[in-house]
Amino acid sequence: MLQVDLTGKVIVVTGGGTGLGKAMAKTFAACGAQVAICGRRQAIIEATAQELGPAVHAYPCDVREWESVSAFLERVVNDLGKIDAVVNNAAGNFLAASETLSPRAFRAVVDIVLTGTFHVSRWAGAYWIEHRRPGHILNIVTTYTDTGCAFVLPSAAAKAGVQALTLSLAYEWAPYHIRVNAIAPGPFPTEGAWSRLMPNANFEEMYKNRLPTKRYGRPEELGALAAFLLSDLAPYLTGAVIPIDGAERLQGAMFNYLAQVADRETLKAAFAALKEATRGST
Ligand code: HXC
Ligand code: NAP
Repeated sequence: MLQVDLTGKVIVVTGGGTGLGKAMAKTFAACGAQVAICGRRQAIIEATAQELGPAVHAYPCDVREWESVSAFLERVVNDLGKIDAVVNNAAGNFLAASETLSPRAFRAVVDIVLTGTFHVSRWAGAYWIEHRRPGHILNIVTTYTDTGCAFVLPSAAAKAGVQALTLSLAYEWAPYHIRVNAIAPGPFPTEGAWSRLMPNANFEEMYKNRLPTKRYGRPEELGALAAFLLSDLAPYLTGAVIPIDGAERLQGAMFNYLAQVADRETLKAAFAALKEATRGST
């Protein structure tokens, strides 16, 4: 039987303390890898490492800061001997009417998603090239990278940038045996995403009913795809952006529906309530 085997691999997962990053870390460890997870909240990443067992190692890191990323990845190499793959999963997002976005709000998301992905990819790529090692960068994007998406402008712009980075590096670094791919998840209910992106139970019901499969993705389904991509089963797979969304993207960009089901004042009030509810949660 063909099995995904990651034995002996060292895999870095940014934002691995929660949600989909945690699910991927769990799958990678179950497939035999050593996994280094990072995040800004030390207590969260340590609790996750504790829960997932001795193959998962927690490191504090803020991907927005180059010095923090360099220190993190150097520590991983020192502690675990090498890095075989990095998964750029850390992200920030929220619902907002674009005309109300402050410059700091725009930067808050773009700095995590796009700048953070650049920092980790830049460090890892130079490390693999210098040490003549093969490597793999796996970026977690969204299904709205080609279409844009209403009410999540900073995320849509940043994730489109990450998709461009994926395709650019896949070609440029192919001669160094560095693969670069992206996964575009559809809706996977996580605390981090749902608390910021689902205005209330009514909207959630509406959203779910519109899905062609009438169900959300399960974290372990994403974990399985990521493990396959990072494994030795996929050496020719590079420069790909793979949706895992139950065909959700074919109905149109994820949050455009909001413009059809409520007037702007109702939406703005719902967005303000979400902002208030998630204030200080990081
Ligand atoms: C409008 C907001 C806002 C909101 C923050 N800001 N939240 N503006 N609506 N809901 C503004 C603030 O007012 C401030 O601007 C600026 O952003 C920075 O705010 P901070 O709270 O200081 O930001 P920071 O601590 O850096 O936190 C970043 C964050 C936060 C993105 C705002 O939500 C975060 O840390 N998120 C990480 C987890 C996360 O978002 N997970 C979801 C990923 S889901 P001013 O000008 O007032 O100072 C995802 C899935 C997409 O990406 C696909 C759909 C399912
Ligand atoms: P999540 O649980 O909120 O995950 C985001 C993670 O990123 C958190 O662990 C957070 O930890 C970390 N993070 C944020 N800023 C950081 C920074 N500056 N440095 C280091 N880590 C940082 O949300 P999720 O739903 O699992 O999302 C995971 C990925 O899937 C994201 O890329 C998201 O865009 C993508 N995605 C999710 C969905 C979905 O439906 N859930 C759909 C499409 C795409 P700290 O706050 O402790 O730093």
